[in-house]
Amino acid sequence: MSSFLLVAIDGGAASGKSSTSRALSERFNFLHVDTGSYYRAITAELLRRGLRVDQVDEVKAALPSITLGTRVEGRAARMEIGGRLAPEAEIRGPEVTAAVSHFAAIPEVRTALLTYQRGQADVARSHGFRGLIMEGRDIGSIIFPNADLRLFLHADVEARAKRRELEGRADAVAERDRMDASRKTAPLVLASGAIDIDSTYLNLEQVVEKIAGLITEKIG
Ligand code: CDP
Ligand code: CDP
Repeated sequence: MSSFLLVAIDGGAASGKSSTSRALSERFNFLHVDTGSYYRAITAELLRRGLRVDQVDEVKAALPSITLGTRVEGRAARMEIGGRLAPEAEIRGPEVTAAVSHFAAIPEVRTALLTYQRGQADVARSHGFRGLIMEGRDIGSIIFPNADLRLFLHADVEARAKRRELEGRADAVAERDRMDASRKTAPLVLASGAIDIDSTYLNLEQVVEKIAGLITEKIG
């Protein structure tokens, strides 16, 4: 039995990572960390500074001046840049969605976030949470390869594109997956030993129940 549980969830775009993690964090009193929102917030900041996705050297030069903080709201951790939270509408909007995978492929951008993301376990402990549920693309492979539970959410690309369409959000799901899976540093991958869950024909509640069972087993 473990007193603090670390759960890693990875998967492609619109595979259900955030909604599943949010529901589980409520049920088990875990801190929920959506690392995609961190890459999105950095992307919004770089775009705000007038940087384009092909200006790799300029992006690298800008990174040291981007100062990161964390604000805990309910059971969610949110990343502050220069003491400010980027609005949700901005980080989920079309400009950021189109640029984020390009910036996320720059190794220095990933390095800038690595220690920060690992430090979120201490944020969760210091706020009295019973565990941390972190979701992204490289959580079970790179950030927390020794997490208590490592999960990978799958769903057919057509089902995922349909989910985004139903949300009314412009998103080239297949193209983003292609970029995320083919980059050299920390690609989207089913980490060895991670549990693969196919949610193409499962609704949110069914996925949550399945993972809740695995968490309950670990908690003992
Ligand atoms: O929620 P959605 O599936 O649309 O994507 P997200 O989780 O918000 O992530 C946005 C983008 O950030 C991804 O397409 C990746 O390019 C990048 N990302 C990453 O590289 N590594 C992570 N751990 C999380 C996100
Ligand atoms: O975080 P990620 O991009 O992986 O996915 P999400 O934002 O949690 O889910 C994308 C959309 O799919 C949301 O509207 C969810 O309600 C929906 N969804 C679903 O229809 N079936 C599931 N099993 C999981 C999510």
